[in-house]
Amino acid sequence: MVYEDFLTQVLPFNKNNIHPRFWSWVEGGGTPMGMLADMLASGMNANLAIGDHGPIYVEKQVIEWSKELFGFPKKASGILTSGGSIANITAVLVARNNFDENIKQKGLHAVPGQLIVYGSSETHNSLFKAVEVIGIGSNNFRKIQVDEHYKIRTDMLHQLILEDKHAGLQPFCIIGNAGTVNTGAIDDLNSLARIAKEENMWFHIDGAFGSVPKLLPEFDDQLKAIEAADSLAFDFHKWLYVNYEVGCVLIRNAEAHRSAFTSPANYLLAHERGLSSGPDPFANYGMELSRGFKALKVWMSLKQHGIRKYARLIRQNLEQAQYLGQLIVQNSELELLAPISLNIVCYRYNPGNTREEDLNMLNKEILMRMHEEGVATPSYTQLKGKYSIRVAITNHRSQREDFDVLVQATCRLGNEIKH
Ligand SMILES: Cc1ncc(COP(=O)(O)O)c(C=O)c1O
Repeated sequence: MVYEDFLTQVLPFNKNNIHPRFWSWVEGGGTPMGMLADMLASGMNANLAIGDHGPIYVEKQVIEWSKELFGFPKKASGILTSGGSIANITAVLVARNNFDENIKQKGLHAVPGQLIVYGSSETHNSLFKAVEVIGIGSNNFRKIQVDEHYKIRTDMLHQLILEDKHAGLQPFCIIGNAGTVNTGAIDDLNSLARIAKEENMWFHIDGAFGSVPKLLPEFDDQLKAIEAADSLAFDFHKWLYVNYEVGCVLIRNAEAHRSAFTSPANYLLAHERGLSSGPDPFANYGMELSRGFKALKVWMSLKQHGIRKYARLIRQNLEQAQYLGQLIVQNSELELLAPISLNIVCYRYNPGNTREEDLNMLNKEILMRMHEEGVATPSYTQLKGKYSIRVAITNHRSQREDFDVLVQATCRLGNEIKH
């Protein structure tokens, strides 16, 4: 029976991001409510391309809630995406077309001078890919240096924009990071918003996971500038724990959003009544025509759990990151490799008297063995040439004891490999 094949050949080989000690990359854990919602959505076989039917209104409601959550104005627009990558591409495409309305039809030659995008060297690679996909080329993404907290150097950014303008280039978009993928750093978004305004540029925030603490009053200052952004990308499937896949992009200027993606066609004309009537189709706000009912799992999850529960779980993850940081700092065999500004902890095993290259190999081996043994699943990155074990806590099932297990396993494996 095919279900038995699933049970024996597929299910046991899950990546297992539903486990309490899964902390790789940035992955949320999903919930039973999300599973149920996905089954219901699939049963309806809803296609949210166009038409006057309930699922479209559910997605519209989710977008309304998202605007409220992040302080976007009521008249802003938005669309659910498969994830942060597509949310980022959607935003920079709107930014590009908004810079000069001729670009949409005539292409980039419509603009005299090369378009330039700015963001820190810690920006997620989906934005470098986005800049390539929209024809600007990643060489024209200015990767600005970061400070010791991995935040963009806003002084260098502003200086470079002025120099580029002087050289006849066309700076048009600044990317701010609310939570960098490597270390969780939040750029000085207030300054970025100010520079964007002064230089008349689009301000996009990649808040894939790090925008979500906006739910907590303690982030009022750091994340306030989200309310001033022209666009925001964030994911429900990361730190809002919704099952894969679902991200979102919000765009302040709904007209600019619509005009970037609308493309009239006789077979898609809106009627006054019947199934072909209804709200402005989502197809006018994104690349896809046929789209699944991703909104249902978000809608059902938010209604079931309520925003206060999300705030509590996010705060729990933040406290767990601090707890892990303390365990590392107190342990003479471990070294913290970056400040903990959010929910990401980067560290390595370093018993002393070991060369840098050897430490890099040693820590990589620790990580691989940890995965093979199935003890815990952190991931990795490279910080200033140092191989780092990286723990990204977007896991609502983790408990404090899980971090004790991680630290013990790191030291045990480090000792085993060394001797
Ligand atoms: C900061 C940041 N931006 C964008 C993305 C891409 O998001 P997605 O994997 O949902 O496409 C990620 C993924 O981890 C991320 O951490």
